[in-house]
Amino acid sequence: MADKIKIARDDKRAIRTRSLVLLKPAHKEVRKLKRDAHVPSIHGHKIWNSSFLIMDYLSRNKPPKKSRFMDLGCGWGLLGIWAKKKFECKITAVDADEDVFPYLELHANINGVNNIKTRKKRFEKLKKADLEGFHTLAGADICFWDELTPVLYKLIRRAIKAGVKRIIIADPGRDPFYQLVELCEKDKTMVAEVVERTTTRPKVAVADLLVVTPA
Ligand SMILES: C[S@@+](CC[C@H](N)C(=O)[O-])C[C@H]1O[C@@H](n2cnc3c(N)ncnc32)[C@H](O)[C@@H]1O
Repeated sequence: MADKIKIARDDKRAIRTRSLVLLKPAHKEVRKLKRDAHVPSIHGHKIWNSSFLIMDYLSRNKPPKKSRFMDLGCGWGLLGIWAKKKFECKITAVDADEDVFPYLELHANINGVNNIKTRKKRFEKLKKADLEGFHTLAGADICFWDELTPVLYKLIRRAIKAGVKRIIIADPGRDPFYQLVELCEKDKTMVAEVVERTTTRPKVAVADLLVVTPA
């Protein structure tokens, strides 16, 4: 593992929340990655708030210790890093955009976490076999385009068939997300619940969580 990068407690461009250290886009370590031409292109250019609301949900509805956990559309990877720290989950972080992974690795480093497996893969290409053995699949802010609704619905169906115990997708309230909720609610192979959560840390945020379990 690379030497640990130290982030000073009074660093104005770092945020501390939920036992994590997060770097703002203007932080010098983040800017260094941008200069190295790692420029995420599908909205993975920062940490999105819904990931904190999934963390809060999981704090109350814990996955089993050391269980396998997939962070879908991981971006900078904080959700998986947190689940690894908190529950020692075995993390696979999946994203279509390989330029997000250097930011994930930076955050894993500053949070003292290693062994996060990264996979460059589109949701539509994740096969049933890729999902077998995972207890939880979770994705924050990943249902933001109309075309992602059927893609994520089919992924959830494959996950249920693969034996995944719980799938959580969080969103601040976009239409494609609610269309996904409707599809899951109508599907007899699964039970879909919507949980509203709010937080004030690190800033005020609201999200609905679609929580899907096998029927
Ligand atoms: C809005 S960002 C959210 C990132 C992260 N989950 C967070 O909360 O900070 C959406 C992420 O989904 C990824 N993504 C978008 N479409 C995808 C697809 N079809 N397959 C896999 N990843 C995708 C993007 O590259 C991006 O990193």
